[in-house]
Amino acid sequence: MRENVLKILLDHGTLVEPDAADFILKQRDPLDFIRRFLETRENLPLILTVGDLRPAESVMRFAEPEAPAPTGKEPHTQERIVTETKAGPEQPAKAAPEPGFNIISDVTGTSTCDGSIENFTQYFRDRFRVLRRIIRSHAEMGASVKISALDPMDKESSVIGMVMDVSKTKNGHIGVSIEDDTGELFVLIHKDSELMEETVLKDEVIGFTGRLSSRKAGGSQADKKAGMFVASAIRRPGIPAMKEQRRSSGDFEVAFMSDIHTGSSHFLSESWSRFVEWINSPLAAKVRYLVVAGDLVDGIGVYPGQEEELRIHDIYSQYGELAKLMSPIPERIRVILQPGNHDAVRPAEPQPAIHEKYRKGFGPNFTFVGNPCYFSIAGVEILSYHGKSIDDLVGQVPGVTYHDPVLPMQEMLKRRLLTISYGGKTPLAPEARDYMAINPVPDILVTGHVHRTAVHRTSGMTLINASAWQSQTPFQKMHNFNPDPAKIVVVNLKTGRCRMVDFLGSGK
Ligand SMILES: [Fe+2]
Repeated sequence: MRENVLKILLDHGTLVEPDAADFILKQRDPLDFIRRFLETRENLPLILTVGDLRPAESVMRFAEPEAPAPTGKEPHTQERIVTETKAGPEQPAKAAPEPGFNIISDVTGTSTCDGSIENFTQYFRDRFRVLRRIIRSHAEMGASVKISALDPMDKESSVIGMVMDVSKTKNGHIGVSIEDDTGELFVLIHKDSELMEETVLKDEVIGFTGRLSSRKAGGSQADKKAGMFVASAIRRPGIPAMKEQRRSSGDFEVAFMSDIHTGSSHFLSESWSRFVEWINSPLAAKVRYLVVAGDLVDGIGVYPGQEEELRIHDIYSQYGELAKLMSPIPERIRVILQPGNHDAVRPAEPQPAIHEKYRKGFGPNFTFVGNPCYFSIAGVEILSYHGKSIDDLVGQVPGVTYHDPVLPMQEMLKRRLLTISYGGKTPLAPEARDYMAINPVPDILVTGHVHRTAVHRTSGMTLINASAWQSQTPFQKMHNFNPDPAKIVVVNLKTGRCRMVDFLGSGK
């Protein structure tokens, strides 16, 4: 068996440490384990360690054993999104064990930061290390060099750095200052270049191909900064074009919603009653999970004048009301509750799960997670993030609006970061590792926050912006923003099929 496992790895071009090989051999089906691991992971190190394999073990352990290999042949998107009608109710599912749920990454209980300079250094180093590795996995960036090794004698070279600053020169060019662990570099994007269409953001990690125009002799930091690199191409981490979406073997569904805003006087109670009726009906018989992507309650003192828009003025009572609202959800459905910027947790991301003192009244089928949270259900990997950073992207990237939340999600995926720039509208906590990095690429990315509803399929992924349960607020009205509330998106993890159920009706 050991020889067979090693042969699979060798054919793949990957080596393995001896204890990692032992780890593989201890799996129930070592050959199936390693095949699936290699198929579903990207950016693997040259030599696999136990640390690389352990997360996969926990995912595969919970996956149902007869899971067929994903076909990735499902047709793409909009034509597969159907709005449910009252006709043709489905038969109730037979009682079945809960499809396996496993948390892959969540800051809850692991936060180590105290906001020191060292924390920030470590945080951004981790971001750079992870994203640089992904960029280097692109063939054209494999030969990229460190900034200090750039040579003006080279006709063309590639370099990867973290963006420190972006500015426009007086001649209309774009100047991007980047750094890596060896120095800093000024990259010029010529005003006549098609690269001018790219929006480069502070703190993203980006690869440039081009030519160093000059460099002073000497090894000091000032000398290292002196060269100017004229860019001819940009390479971002991105997502693999041929990614295959994992599927479960069990025929069941996961429902997604967000932004309940319990306690708000704009809460859509009649729509919620319709949802409760639906979730207890045969139409929802296959639903085994409900994911709520943040803003569970409206909170207290989140914005000036909020008290005038609150029906419940006490944070404990808001969570108590949420527990009551959710109590009719059948116990066979596991409810995953994540905080958002209105919840009673630290505002800095990543946010831990809400404290136990707010969890009274919730049944055993409720699981509280952090924001973001990366988890799997029956082997299908889901990254759920409330989406506060959309506020930054709307201001930073031309064309990105609140109206179509798929656009900011695509900007996140392009850079493989949920929150990109430090110092904007989204506070960041400098944890020892960057929980805001999108790594690996999930099968489903869900956000909320903008109170719209959207589903989109791209490169073997499903992007969902989950709807809200709050009608238009005076603030939204003032900004001419029309929410799209009281809908849920339901995904069948076996088929990948999505449906949208609308509870708004006439009771808005
Ligand atoms: Fe919200």
